[in-house]
Amino acid sequence: MRRSYGEVGLESLPDDPFVAFSGWLAEAASVPAVVEANAMVLSTLGDENQISTRTVLLKDISEGGFTFFTNYTSRKARAMELNEQVTLLFPWFAMERQVSISGIAEKVSEQESADYFRTRPWSSQIGAWASHQSSPLSSREELEQRFAGASQKWPEGSTVPVPPHWGGYRVTPLEIEFWQGRYSRLHDRLRYERTNTTSDWIITRYYP
Ligand SMILES: Cc1cc2nc3c(=O)[nH]c(=O)nc-3n(C[C@H](O)[C@H](O)[C@H](O)COP(=O)(O)O)c2cc1C
Repeated sequence: MRRSYGEVGLESLPDDPFVAFSGWLAEAASVPAVVEANAMVLSTLGDENQISTRTVLLKDISEGGFTFFTNYTSRKARAMELNEQVTLLFPWFAMERQVSISGIAEKVSEQESADYFRTRPWSSQIGAWASHQSSPLSSREELEQRFAGASQKWPEGSTVPVPPHWGGYRVTPLEIEFWQGRYSRLHDRLRYERTNTTSDWIITRYYP
């Protein structure tokens, strides 16, 4: 499992971490070995200090944050209701890179969720109605039946309403760290940090 990492270093990054991130995301998306470059691991802290973690897809970078969509009654949503602090991790192993982000999660507007919902394929829209995400399910059949029921109600080609329990979250970062693997485990780590969402970013290099 032991490999020597990249010869290409991380000398400096743009002042704006969103510019830096967008550049890395575009590079990751162009590397065939990176599957789902926009997949990110979201960790939340819920009731009784229960940490939970799962993958979600980054769908937008705007208004100073990273947006994903999910079910508002899911376990992750319940955790973010209690504790808006979350982390996001992009593990781009094939490029010997990772970006880790910590920040504050907030729901996006209903309009923004609706706008994105409209772009989803019909089957995904119906799937959002069929799933009580994170609730116990008695059998696979029950899920298929719920999908069939919603399909009858809103056949393909009709307008599927946005489920009230579905929408987006935007994570506004307070820290964004770029990690580049290097030889002899002398990896490069550059971290942007700020004390609140309106203050200036400070970039610090950390020991690997
Ligand atoms: C590659 C990948 C992408 C995923 N994208 C999403 C997503 O964008 N939104 C979502 O709600 N779940 C997504 N999931 C499913 C979640 O990882 C998770 O199983 C689900 O959201 C329930 O999580 P929770 O019970 O912790 O709330 C994805 C899973 C994988 C493996």
